[in-house]
Amino acid sequence: MKHLPSRIAKWKRLGEYWFDRDTKMFQGLLGKVRDDISNGIDNTTMGATFIKQQDRSGLSDTKIAWLGGTIFAAGSDTTSISLSWWLFAMLMYPDVQRRAQAELDAVVGHDRVPAFSDLQHFPFIHAMVKETLRWRPALPLGLAHATTEDDWDEGMFIPKGTICFANVKACNHDAAVYGKDAARFDPARHLVVDGMINASNGEGHVTYGFGRRICVGRHMANDTLAIAMAVMLWAMNIHPAQAEHEVDILPKEDEFLNMQLIQRPRSFKCNIVPRFPEVLDMLAAERDRQN
Ligand code: HEM
Repeated sequence: MKHLPSRIAKWKRLGEYWFDRDTKMFQGLLGKVRDDISNGIDNTTMGATFIKQQDRSGLSDTKIAWLGGTIFAAGSDTTSISLSWWLFAMLMYPDVQRRAQAELDAVVGHDRVPAFSDLQHFPFIHAMVKETLRWRPALPLGLAHATTEDDWDEGMFIPKGTICFANVKACNHDAAVYGKDAARFDPARHLVVDGMINASNGEGHVTYGFGRRICVGRHMANDTLAIAMAVMLWAMNIHPAQAEHEVDILPKEDEFLNMQLIQRPRSFKCNIVPRFPEVLDMLAAERDRQN
């Protein structure tokens, strides 16, 4: 079919349309980095490295735009959707929120904002990252793989080259692995008796995929989620929004949006309240310090 001309293949025209649109977007983003470099602004991003090393790599402008763009695309929705599911869990499981805040208060106190260097002292926050990804994987069927040889499974023949999707969500909720309460959001399942992370359990879920194509950004994603959760819970309490007569409005666990391969919660209301009076000034000072 690849030899069919676009004018008689609508699917091909669609592919070309999106390729052009995405190329323009990725080139636009990289263009800003290029401007920074020519204006002498020190830029240590991956995009800047691609530009500075373009002579050595021999990659075209379009290819480096896509190199940065695919990493950006692979890491942005997946991370933000996982954070949305986590916010959702914070509303449904307030006891988990309190336990994480107790850990943050014990390690950080209220005099400074949590930093990356604190992460090693936050086993419960790490457990919450694992549990969020296990409980509601942003890609419940992962991404497509293909069999590298002929295979048989439960009497069915699967020829070499068959496209396969793994049922990631079902694996993550397997009662044989996670027990009868697999549907419950319970970060403590990733901890051992002394409250530390169960190191013998790998990621504790299969949300990052499998084998040679496992997500290469998983370490960055784990740390991004951990610092975001830590700063948010250090700074604020997340309560359900309230209807008349102080009735809590809670999102429904089985209401979500399927967008191609991605599953995200429907938009929901919540009530976010600073935990102590200095919070907003401290966050603003931290933002200014980092800029
Ligand atoms: C919570 C966040 C994330 C989730 C749930 C996630 C999930 C996944 C999944 C399911 C795959 C396919 C694995 C397979 O084929 O079995 C994948 C691949 C990939 N991910 Fe992630 N990802 C996340 C964050 C990131 C970040 C932050 C980056 C980059 C900074 C990234 C970069 C990539 C890349 C480049 C691939 C393709 C790897 C390959 O095919 O060799 N991901 N990710």
